Amino acid sequence: MAISIRRARASDSEFVDGLGMQSASTSLSPVRPASADAAATAFRRAMEFCADRNDALTLIAERDGQPAGFLMLLFELTDDVTLQRQAFIVYMAVAPSQRRSGVARTLLAAAEEEARARGASHISLMVTQANAPAKALYEQAGFLDERVQMTKPVRAAAR
Ligand SMILES: CC(C)(COP(=O)(O)OP(=O)(O)OC[C@H]1O[C@@H](n2cnc3c(N)ncnc32)[C@H](O)[C@@H]1OP(=O)(O)O)[C@@H](O)C(=O)NCCC(=O)NCCS
Repeated sequence: MAISIRRARASDSEFVDGLGMQSASTSLSPVRPASADAAATAFRRAMEFCADRNDALTLIAERDGQPAGFLMLLFELTDDVTLQRQAFIVYMAVAPSQRRSGVARTLLAAAEEEARARGASHISLMVTQANAPAKALYEQAGFLDERVQMTKPVRAAAR
């Protein structure tokens, strides 16, 4: 069945919140162990951060009239070096039962179109190194490795 993309409505908040909290543990890193609760709370913080901004957009992917995935995007961020305005994907997720059928690919294409329409020079995101499905998705969609966050624990308890 065809996938359609639309802007989120207030009535989507339960879907976005539920799926985001449920899937947030994919952002956990073996370098900095934390609980699934911490990841879910981090997702909530990201949502609140976006809710306070007027350059935020959430896209909803639907299949058979039902929400299947979402993507949260900001438009007014600049690249630190060039100061060019870029679109930034804060988070995206697809319902487990809808995965591997092109929902995320369709959401990314829509986000790219929005970025282009708003005059952004690039579209960027952060992804946890250990999140192999997401890394594969972004690489397949044409995203390039640009800068890498390198981390070293400096306290025994953190190793
Ligand atoms: C990552 C995620 C969004 C992918 O969604 P999806 O709808 O299943 O992805 P698509 O079906 O559009 O896949 C497009 C391409 O991405 C890659 N890909 C997606 N899932 C993959 C997986 N589990 N393993 C390897 N490659 C994968 C493939 O190249 C795929 O193309 P193909 O199916 O023709 O091989 C989904 O797994 C998810 O919601 N994960 C939990 C949340 C998350 O990690 N979000 C990203 C945070 S940065």
